[in-house]
Amino acid sequence: MRATHCTCVALVGGACLAAAQQFQSTPVMGWNSYNQFGCSINEAKITQAINSLSSRGFVDAGYKFFQLDCGWASRDGQRNATSGALKIDLQSFPNGLLPLSNLARSKGMKWSMYSDAGFRMCDPQAPSPVLGSLGHEAADADLFKSLNSEYVKCTISYPALVEPNPLTVVVDDNCYADGSQASQNAPKGSRTDFVTRYTTMWKELQRVGIQGMLICQWGVPYSTSNGLEGPVEWTKGISTSFRLSDDITTGWGSVYRIYNQAVHIARSGQIGPGHIADADLLEVGNSGMTFDEQATHFAAWAMLKSALMISTNVAALSNELVAVLQNKDLIAINQDSAVKPIKLVQRWTSDRDLWSGDLANGDIAVLVVDLSNARRTLSLQLSDLGIKSADVKDLWTSEVFKNTNSYSKQVNGHGSLALRLSNIQYASGPGTQYKYISVSSGTLASGASTQACAGCVSSTKVGNLGGSSHGSVTLSNIVTSQATQTVKFDYINCEISYLGGGSNERLASIKVNGGAAQTVSFPLSGYNWATDIHAGYAVQLSGFNTQGPNSISISGVGNGYAPDFDRIAVVA
Ligand SMILES: *[C@@H]1O[C@H](CO)[C@@H](O)[C@H](O)[C@H]1NC(C)=O
Repeated sequence: MRATHCTCVALVGGACLAAAQQFQSTPVMGWNSYNQFGCSINEAKITQAINSLSSRGFVDAGYKFFQLDCGWASRDGQRNATSGALKIDLQSFPNGLLPLSNLARSKGMKWSMYSDAGFRMCDPQAPSPVLGSLGHEAADADLFKSLNSEYVKCTISYPALVEPNPLTVVVDDNCYADGSQASQNAPKGSRTDFVTRYTTMWKELQRVGIQGMLICQWGVPYSTSNGLEGPVEWTKGISTSFRLSDDITTGWGSVYRIYNQAVHIARSGQIGPGHIADADLLEVGNSGMTFDEQATHFAAWAMLKSALMISTNVAALSNELVAVLQNKDLIAINQDSAVKPIKLVQRWTSDRDLWSGDLANGDIAVLVVDLSNARRTLSLQLSDLGIKSADVKDLWTSEVFKNTNSYSKQVNGHGSLALRLSNIQYASGPGTQYKYISVSSGTLASGASTQACAGCVSSTKVGNLGGSSHGSVTLSNIVTSQATQTVKFDYINCEISYLGGGSNERLASIKVNGGAAQTVSFPLSGYNWATDIHAGYAVQLSGFNTQGPNSISISGVGNGYAPDFDRIAVVA
């Protein structure tokens, strides 16, 4: 049902926010200029992109939102003297932006703009010469509306509390960068003003009837009096979607970094219609990844219920990559009305990941990702999902295998099984019985320490595991009935990785009964080291003695830190 006048769904600062529920409730699909052009866009490039999307079938496939990223606004540091809004760069866009918006709309697309809720937009030049919208949100919302925009991507890329004199801003401070180059620009620190600044922009967009807004804050936590809150929490009610991570870039490492950051967000249960976690633009079509890596990247983004924003030269895409991007089954999963992202079921470190997620009709989306980066047979045992049998559709080949309990095929390095399970028969019978052990009850060595942990079941956790002193904890006298088993870990890892390094995981070195060390990856669990626990993380370990007492010892890998641990559970 479409509201014809203001129907209050939320009050922010006394203003009625009417329109959010009218924006599409499933992830946005479209094209964004950034990964192809950076901030160097012009009329000819944008015209060609619009025409290519249309002629190659992308609009019909559902890629409707055409989004201009940075580069559209004037670099003269001035606002429009007539309207008070940001000025369009008339050197790059001599006819303004309305003819381009009209062209896109004539092809069945929806227009989308980018701005910044801070003083400056990000820009490759440091300090940035391009103004942002702070203090001028109303005029800029009017400008976006005059271009018939329906969706706005919004960052906060300038940290100063008062408008700085660009001449006095150090290069490193541009866009809150902490690197030596502007291309590394992204805030890496939590801030207290995210909510107020984005709320102002959101309200002005709602006022003019622009109903969709992406908060593009790179997965940075908000600093509250109760500690840090992740964007899945702080963006609620002031946007239709939020970026869950720092920017994507070329290469598989970036896909792995971002999807590790998605793990805790998918588990939070807070993603759904109207509150969508955006894993950033697609790199499909760009250099840096093999075909199989690009296909896995696309399947992961589709199943995580991320926005699907193509960001490449569409005219130059191979037919094979067009087929990946226009895969109807994966698009159907992405656009599923339940908007439930796949969750990481189990990671076999350096071997494979198993993800699964519920769909509105009771089917299940499954993604198995090769982590060995070698050609191999990749297998799914449905019992790992608590399923006895199902019909399995391979979404890359469209083949359906009826009433099966497993599925295997050959894949190349970082390839994947992208599957849809239907006609599902769940396994019955008693589940595995687990016994919990507080890690704080273990023997600590070499600097490992117990620390207060408000959210821990044990009320304390063990930290400082690993590092250069190689802190460790050993749990002894463990009795268990299985030699090889899935051990469960309740852990905390809040070390966020940004562009330029890191994978959003901490590695632990784990030994059972003093045997061979196994390296285990623990993805980011949140932002708050006292509360953001990943409970029940499944790790396959072997070497247990079913006849007598066992020990488990945990340390770091190299000089790196392991996560902090609350409890572990072994099979009773
Ligand atoms: C300035 O605003 C006026 C009035 O809205 C508009 O016609 C003009 O195109 C704008 N100029 C630029 C450079 O954005």
